[in-house]
Amino acid sequence: MHSFESLSKDFAAFFQKSHFPDQPASLYQPADYFLGLGGKRVRPVCCLMGNELFDEILPDTWQVATAIELFHNFTLIHDDIMDKAPLRRGMATVHSRYGEPTALLAGDVMLVVAYDYLNKVRSEHFHRIIQLFNRTAREVCEGQQLDMNFEKSETVSLDAYIKMIELKTSVLLAASLKLGAILGGAGEGNLHHIYEFGRNLGIAFQVQDDYLDAFGDPDKFGKQVGGDIMANKKTFLLIKALESADPALKAELDALLQSNHPDKVEKVLAIFRACGVDEWAKTLKDQYLSAAFQHLDDIAVLSKRKEPLRSLANFLVQRDY
Ligand code: IPE
Ligand code: IPE
Ligand code: MG
Ligand code: MG
Ligand code: MG
Repeated sequence: MHSFESLSKDFAAFFQKSHFPDQPASLYQPADYFLGLGGKRVRPVCCLMGNELFDEILPDTWQVATAIELFHNFTLIHDDIMDKAPLRRGMATVHSRYGEPTALLAGDVMLVVAYDYLNKVRSEHFHRIIQLFNRTAREVCEGQQLDMNFEKSETVSLDAYIKMIELKTSVLLAASLKLGAILGGAGEGNLHHIYEFGRNLGIAFQVQDDYLDAFGDPDKFGKQVGGDIMANKKTFLLIKALESADPALKAELDALLQSNHPDKVEKVLAIFRACGVDEWAKTLKDQYLSAAFQHLDDIAVLSKRKEPLRSLANFLVQRDY
């Protein structure tokens, strides 16, 4: 069994080659630029781990893992346009460096090349792979639209937030694990549990992302801290603060949401702190992490084989980048 560190190193080596033709360089160079910025490569490693839980890692799995990472990068490039984000992985986002039209196309072409990799799969499970990949891609679009809708809604329930982050983020983690497991020949019960492990872990992962967007260390996080606050994103931080603030604080928060005050981020952060957001983040993460671990326990393979997934899960909810 391989650890996260070792699989992400192997994946980085596999992924490093150029995935695009040379011309027009004005399209492919921005695409290469973005892939060259790295990232944690969590989803392809999940695919490899999902496979290795049931079998030795098969050649097809590398192709699917590559498709997943390309798909993920496509969603990030478009997400950064939607979120008006200047920074990603410590560097300028594609649209801020090359303009929005090029960023749209660089994302589009990445998605197309992802399908070229899927098309290399020789497994008897090919159709099932495509079906799950496409269902997941559609769900990510749905989640991203809900995320945008929620910027404009005054109130969003915690349940609606959870459903939105499940769609925009967690289904891709879940599908990455399950795609690997399908290739590894896992049975239906195990496929169910590995997907549910990933779905619950993915929710905890996005909770941590939302926490870091507010409270992360800008030098480590690699993205603009406070971006969610500026965009009025309905994260659990804002939902819980609106729910629990006393009337005076709530009025102040409501007013800040309507404003573009230069100190908006700082002021909202102070209210978050006053409402004890740290504890909520922890409670929410623990709730979904323990549901994830329950499903991991229920997978019918030797417990020792699950160790890499266990330590990956712990890393993902505690990460600071
Ligand atoms: C960022 O994902 C998008 C979210 C779903 C929060 P990652 O935090 O995995 O981004 P990279 O690939 O490591 O940069
Ligand atoms: C992004 O959620 C999810 C997808 C890219 C599908 P965020 O907007 O919170 O991700 P970051 O913080 O920009 O990475
Ligand atoms: Mg974003
Ligand atoms: Mg977003
Ligand atoms: Mg975020």
